[in-house]
Amino acid sequence: MPRLAIALIAAATASFVHATAPEAQYFGMDPGEVLFGECRDCHNFAEGAGPGRKAPNLWGVYGRTAATAPGWDYTPELRASGIVWTETTMEKWLRNPGALVPGTKMDFQVPNEEQRELVLEYMRNADPAGYMRAIQGLK
Ligand code: HEC
Repeated sequence: MPRLAIALIAAATASFVHATAPEAQYFGMDPGEVLFGECRDCHNFAEGAGPGRKAPNLWGVYGRTAATAPGWDYTPELRASGIVWTETTMEKWLRNPGALVPGTKMDFQVPNEEQRELVLEYMRNADPAGYMRAIQGLK
């Protein structure tokens, strides 16, 4: 299963990753945005954009029930999961989608905790209104 950490280590050497300040790994760009670039290989993340090449549009995902973005043929497993996307469920999902929802077709993991947090932070900041709706609906 592809892993985000491995993709990053392939882009820089392992010693570079360990020896330099975290922000130096991201070439001066917002680290969460750089990491989220991997998600964009499959997903779109923009209002009304429709699905991406290999996965549903993630816009407005916070507070939404899993497998309900229009225009995507989800697995029956994710549709039956009943998951509502919050920081907690999304964190578990990114750690290992197949562990949270056995049978899902999302074949990608973010095993590194700091990188998961950066991805989540990027998604929160990109859609603050959606995030606020989610936490208001879920308190
Ligand atoms: C290799 C392609 C691929 C990559 C890369 C990928 N995903 Fe996915 N993702 C999928 C697929 C396919 C699904 C639908 C899974 C299903 O139907 O079981 C999905 C589903 C999801 C869902 C559930 C969406 C919903 O509408 O319920 C979330 C949230 C998500 N991905 C987040 C991410 C994030 C964040 C990243 C980057 C860290 C990422 N994904 C990277 C393929 C990918």
